[in-house]
Amino acid sequence: MKNDIQPHLDKNSIPIDPTLVELQKDEWSYSKKRSLDEFNAKDWELWSEQRNQYFEGQRVKHILRMLECQKDDKAYLYTVNNYYHCMQTATRMLRAGLPEEDVVVGLLHDVGFVTCNETHGEFSAALLRPFISERNYWMLVNHAVFQQYHCYDLLGCDRHARDQFTGHPHFAWTAEFVDKFDQTTINYDEEILPLETFEPMVKRIFARTPNFQNKE
Ligand SMILES: [Fe+2]
Ligand SMILES: [Fe+2]
Repeated sequence: MKNDIQPHLDKNSIPIDPTLVELQKDEWSYSKKRSLDEFNAKDWELWSEQRNQYFEGQRVKHILRMLECQKDDKAYLYTVNNYYHCMQTATRMLRAGLPEEDVVVGLLHDVGFVTCNETHGEFSAALLRPFISERNYWMLVNHAVFQQYHCYDLLGCDRHARDQFTGHPHFAWTAEFVDKFDQTTINYDEEILPLETFEPMVKRIFARTPNFQNKE
């Protein structure tokens, strides 16, 4: 009986299904050790090898899933939901001939808008940080403050909050992104490109060598 095996389970616990989660590749091996304390050098070698390959295959899939799972969400006011907003941003940036990195940054700029609304700029900045320029990192972190400039009659909103950054080298880019590609991409009748169009771009950006410099 399962409860004999797991005597700590109370009536509300979900019994553990003793099935191994399938490994991604047939040729890979499990570690069945029950704590990292027990890992020896050989285990860590295998860990490193399989983990690196796993990340290569899974990372972009997970990132796109974060966006794609919002596709059927209801809207709260605008005629589009957050998925279509992000897709419109990326489509417009691509059609404007902006560099691939900018397009990917646009695609993911609000990926955490619903889950961590108050810090969603930092969320996408953290996601992309090792793979993008300081210019785009700074823009992601600060884009919500710059958006306030476009909210004329919003009670309690300081339209000029962005002025604290006057003279900053990335002020102009952040203001331009918000103006052209963010505050105006909320239209149900605007054509978007399919997510598959952006997938190879996302792959290339996340295949870059990680670099954390100059992103404080
Ligand atoms: Fe945003
Ligand atoms: Fe946005």
